[in-house]
Amino acid sequence: MTARLFTPFDLGALRLSNRIVIAPMCTYSATDGCANDWHVIHYGGLALSGAGLLTLEATAVEPEGRITYGDIGLWDDACETALGKTLESVRRWSDMPIAIQIAHAGRKASTDLPWLGGVQLPPGSEHGWQTVSSSDLPFQDGEVAPHALDRDGLKRVREAFASAAKRAVRLGLDAIQVHSAHGYLLHQFLSPLANYRDDEYGGSLENRLRFPLEVFDAMRDVVPSNVSLTVRVSGTDWVEGGWDIDGTIAYAQALQAKGCTGIHVSSGGMSMAQSIPLGPNYQVPLARAVKQAVSIPVIAVGLVTEAEQAETIVGTGDADLVAVARVMLYDPRWPWHAAAALGAKIKAAPQYLRSAPHSAANLFKV
Ligand SMILES: Cc1cc2nc3c(=O)[nH]c(=O)nc-3n(C[C@H](O)[C@H](O)[C@H](O)COP(=O)(O)O)c2cc1C
Repeated sequence: MTARLFTPFDLGALRLSNRIVIAPMCTYSATDGCANDWHVIHYGGLALSGAGLLTLEATAVEPEGRITYGDIGLWDDACETALGKTLESVRRWSDMPIAIQIAHAGRKASTDLPWLGGVQLPPGSEHGWQTVSSSDLPFQDGEVAPHALDRDGLKRVREAFASAAKRAVRLGLDAIQVHSAHGYLLHQFLSPLANYRDDEYGGSLENRLRFPLEVFDAMRDVVPSNVSLTVRVSGTDWVEGGWDIDGTIAYAQALQAKGCTGIHVSSGGMSMAQSIPLGPNYQVPLARAVKQAVSIPVIAVGLVTEAEQAETIVGTGDADLVAVARVMLYDPRWPWHAAAALGAKIKAAPQYLRSAPHSAANLFKV
C-alpha cells in the first residue's frame, strides 16, 4: 500500500503530488526587496527535492514590512520583475508547484540580519526605519516603539496586501499564503498581548479578528478562486492571557467562510515570555484542534524530521499536509529519503535518475 504521505492531495484547485510542503523560510539575501541569483540557487535546489509544494519565504508588502533589509518584497515593479526572473529559472527545470508567503512584520520589522545579531535597527540608522503595529508597544523592552496604525495606515496596509497578491497572481504563483503567525503584523492585531486598541480593531475577539479578516477579504477579492489562498496562524502565543487555540479556531472558521483554501498551523513568536514545550510534533495538537473545527485542509509543521512521523500525522488525519523547514535546509533531498523509507515512489529530475541506491532501486517515478 502506498504511504499516505505520498498520495496526491488537492489544495483547492491545486493538485499536489504528495503531502510534503516546504515551509516558508526567510533567507534575508535580497537587495531592496529584489530576489537575485541566491534565490535561484536556493529555490532551484529545493524545487528538485520532490516535495509536493515549495513555499517562498515571507515576502513583504511594503518596505517597512520587512523583518530585515534583506527580505524579498512584492511592493513595486522592480521586485516583481526580479522575482519573475527567479521563478522563470526555477520553473524551467522543475514543475513543482510554488506558493508565496505574503507578509508584513509590523513591530518586528527593521532588524539586523540574524547572523549579524538580529537586533532592532532604529529609525535613522543605516538599514533601519520606523515600525508600525496595532498599538504602540515594542516587541522587546528597550526597542523603539512602533507607531499604531491609524485609519489611513490600515487602509494603506490592506491595499498593500491586495496589491502584492495581484502581483503574485501575475507571476503565476500556484498558491498564496497570508502570514498571520509568529508575532508579525496581522498576529499583532489578533493577540491581546500586542493589541491595546480601543477602537473597533481592538478589545473583543471579534474586534481583534477584524483587520486580519479585512486583509484576507482584500486579497481574496483579487486572487482568482482557482488560486489557493491559505493562511498561516500561530495556534497559541504560549503565554497566559495571550492568543490561544479557541481564538485560532474562531479565526479559522471565519477564514473558511470567506473562501480560505487552507490553514497552516504554527505557533508562538508574539512574546519574549513564551514558554514552548519544544519536541517532535509539538505543534501537531494545535493542527488537530483546527482540523476538527474546519472542513478545509490543514497543514501541520514543527520538528517533523522523520518519514514515519510525517506519515503518522497524515495517516491519523491530524493534518492533511505536513510542512518541513529546517530539515529541508539540512537535507534538501529529505522527500527522497522519506519516500525510500516508506517504500514509495517520488519524482526526480531526469538528470538525477541514476542516483537511486540499490536499496531503493525503484524509488523514482519515470
Ligand atoms: C531560517 C528560517 C527562516 C524562517 N522563515 C520563516 C518565514 O519566512 N515565514 C514563516 O512563516 N516561518 C518561517 N520560519 C519558520 C518555519 O517555516 C517553520 O515553521 C519552523 O522552522 C518549524 O518547522 P521545522 O521544525 O520543520 O523547522 C523560518 C524558520 C527558519 C529556520
